[in-house]
Amino acid sequence: MPSQFAEERRQGALTRITKLVFPQDTNPLGTLYGGTALQWMDEVAFLAATRYARRQVVTVSMDRVDFKVPIPQGSIVELIGDVVETGRTSMVVRVQILIEDAMAGTQELAIEGRLIMVAVNAAMKPVALSRQAD
Ligand SMILES: CC(C)(COP(=O)(O)OP(=O)(O)OC[C@H]1O[C@@H](n2cnc3c(N)ncnc32)[C@H](O)[C@@H]1OP(=O)(O)O)[C@@H](O)C(=O)NCCC(=O)NCCS
Repeated sequence: MPSQFAEERRQGALTRITKLVFPQDTNPLGTLYGGTALQWMDEVAFLAATRYARRQVVTVSMDRVDFKVPIPQGSIVELIGDVVETGRTSMVVRVQILIEDAMAGTQELAIEGRLIMVAVNAAMKPVALSRQAD
């Protein structure tokens, strides 16, 4: 069971970004281009991991990404980055992209993935995550 501190730290790192899907974000079918989605996912994972570590971080791996539902041009989407696991220097960030029905206010999970981020020093060497509130 996670400690209260760990849960507070996770909550403090939770990152949400809302975006509108513009024509330049789409593929020839008029839905969100996968490469754009991956860029947005990397951005939210970077922010969440930076907030968690309070250090510089880099992406070391995109573990798995599932594209479940196409996202049409003009959609409002929300990206959520949540640090769900940590190692000595690494963090697993679960990233979800939700499509929002602008009129109803409901959301549907469209894309989900896990990105692994590593805390690094100025020499790009992995550094340990701090384990207590300091
Ligand atoms: C990230 C980087 C510094 C890690 O260096 P490394 O020599 O592999 O370091 P280590 O072997 O000590 O691994 C560090 C951590 O990353 C994890 N890791 C390394 N490669 C991984 C992979 N492919 N998948 C998942 N985790 C990985 C290790 O398990 C370790 O985690 P832990 O400390 O929590 O146990 C190095 O791989 C790197 O510079 N990669 C390029 C990063 C980059 O340019 N990203 C794109 C721009 S942000």
